[in-house]
Amino acid sequence: MTRFTLAAAALLGLAHEVLADLQPCGPAQYDPAQYVCWDNQFLCPITGGEPLSNCAGACYSKFMYTCTNSVLTLLPPVDTPFTLTVDNPGLPIHGKPVTAGGLHWTLDGETSSYCPEQVGSACPPGDTTVLAAYQGSVSMSVMVPGGQQAYLDPYWNMGYTQAHSAYLPPGSIREGFGAYQGGGFVNLNGNGWGWAACPPRASGGGGPGWNLVARNETNADKFNECHPINLKINSLPSGTLGAWQYT
Ligand SMILES: *[C@@H]1O[C@H](CO)[C@@H](O)[C@H](O)[C@H]1NC(C)=O
Repeated sequence: MTRFTLAAAALLGLAHEVLADLQPCGPAQYDPAQYVCWDNQFLCPITGGEPLSNCAGACYSKFMYTCTNSVLTLLPPVDTPFTLTVDNPGLPIHGKPVTAGGLHWTLDGETSSYCPEQVGSACPPGDTTVLAAYQGSVSMSVMVPGGQQAYLDPYWNMGYTQAHSAYLPPGSIREGFGAYQGGGFVNLNGNGWGWAACPPRASGGGGPGWNLVARNETNADKFNECHPINLKINSLPSGTLGAWQYT
């Protein structure tokens, strides 16, 4: 009985693969769950829930590029503070914010911040997580003197420094981030493996909520319960500070 059940399950799995609802794209056949067909001619993959766009036959992400007169160009760097939201329409946390808490970025968590009593009402509200990017590095948009730098920690989670401290765990990476106006926040370390959202309890740490991890070729297997996502940039007015300090 057990053997039969296993064999039947295996066959069903196989049938599912073979019978994926293929559609024509010109002379080719494609699975619309994995690809998008442009002009009945060009196939582009769907990555992180984003059907890649087509620029004269080249597939590109709108989180990083724009296509002008059939030429791909990088979006300009964002030059104001911003918030980030998760982008993958297939996930329940689509559109939810990146949140700072416990010196760590999480997804759809609670922003945790602190305002000294003597600063009082002069503190920013401290209930949203506001960031600023500059020449490949990213920091928390805070009022506290010295600021708070954000970085990839040795586990390839995003962390940030404690206020009044410049300490980073050995092996942390503080550069190589792209932040594009009208686009996304991209980790350029790790050869384009991109961000993933790890559901509660999946490997990837981060406690009870969804955790953000940066994938690369050596950790991709470990994060196979996690889902690829993009991080969308939502620009704020110049000079916006999110908190006195994030905790
Ligand atoms: C990939 O990420 C892991 C942490 O998850 C890190 O230990 C490793 O050094 C990274 N690999 C590369 C090639 O950067």
